[in-house]
Amino acid sequence: MKALILVGGFGTRLRPLTLSVPKPLVEFANKPMILHQIEALKAVGVTEVVLAINYQPEVMLNFLKEFEAKVEIKISCSQETEPLGTAGPLALARDKLIDGSGEPFFVLNSDVISEYPFKEMIEFHKGHGGEASIMVTKVDEPSKYGVVVMEESTGQVDKFVEKPKLFVGNKINAGIYLLNPSVLDRIELRPTSIEKEVFPKIAAEKKLYAMVLPGFWMDIGQPRDYITGLRLYLDSLRKKASTKLATGPHIVGNVLVHESAKIGEGCLIGPDVAIGPGCVVESGVRLSRCTVMRGVRIKKHACISSSIIGWHSTVGQWARVENMTILGEDVHVCDEIYSNGGVVLPHKEIKSSILKPEIVM
Ligand code: GDD
Ligand code: MG
Repeated sequence: MKALILVGGFGTRLRPLTLSVPKPLVEFANKPMILHQIEALKAVGVTEVVLAINYQPEVMLNFLKEFEAKVEIKISCSQETEPLGTAGPLALARDKLIDGSGEPFFVLNSDVISEYPFKEMIEFHKGHGGEASIMVTKVDEPSKYGVVVMEESTGQVDKFVEKPKLFVGNKINAGIYLLNPSVLDRIELRPTSIEKEVFPKIAAEKKLYAMVLPGFWMDIGQPRDYITGLRLYLDSLRKKASTKLATGPHIVGNVLVHESAKIGEGCLIGPDVAIGPGCVVESGVRLSRCTVMRGVRIKKHACISSSIIGWHSTVGQWARVENMTILGEDVHVCDEIYSNGGVVLPHKEIKSSILKPEIVM
């Protein structure tokens, strides 16, 4: 089986992290987002993954070449010269996706995180006999997603409306599809949207089916959702593989600590924290609901909550960093500084407090 991952888009909503690496390579729970997907695809028998790319292809390719050998899966690139949207890239990669077997192929948005129930999806697809299957999930605020109206008993989709202005329902497109090769005959090679131009037509012909995704789901393409997504992911890890989580008197709730990270005396860490490789957390530090990327140093008695600390940054002694503060790569927060929702571009030194949410350039 084959799969295509849509890895275009500039990831602007995840800046400043995406100023350093393309969004799919930003680590989530100590692993680049895209690797969560590739590993899950491999587990259900996918042998080749096509990356639909339009942004920084060299960075992505260098990284994935190394990974390809480790995971024993073929990874190839289909590179756009202009952004082709969410459907155009499928037309561009047509020859890579069709192998004469007539088998369906997976398509994924690169920024969605879940337990990837691909096996269940294959069963579902075989069972309904339609042309395309999509996963849906319930959310409280459907307007920022593609909304799906479906028949509960069969899963047959009546309507697919991308980013509706008026309420049509609360089941949304989770960005995980299984498509028959015939879907490719519906897509022209030009910038075009699968959500606006392809799914509504297949739905009108009653050949689009939706399956409610079991387990958690999150689009982690924005900081707030990224932090919520980490909580959901760690909850699920607790149920499935709790030995991967940290334990000890200094740990509260679900915490992931890379084996090469060092944690000092008298810290209190958790819940919902991920600490990356090579990090140094000095004594008396308090961390909750945050991600600390590779190579970060957190100095004594600093306190960080609901924030993301980018690669190789430093947070000074007694500093307080909170409320969706996002530090880019190699940022230095001086001692005793307060950051309330600061979004700090890479390579900056923060010498005075950031009192209200703002971008520091
Ligand atoms: N190759 C390529 N080229 N990929 C692209 C392009 C492009 O021109 N534009 C966007 N993508 C990729 C993004 O990288 C992402 O993986 C995926 O297509 C979806 O784009 P987003 O920008 O993340 O869309 P969204 O989050 O607003 O909405 C989409 O995802 C929701 C679920 O998270 C839609 O599919 C919604 O229907 C869905 O509910
Ligand atoms: Mg998205």
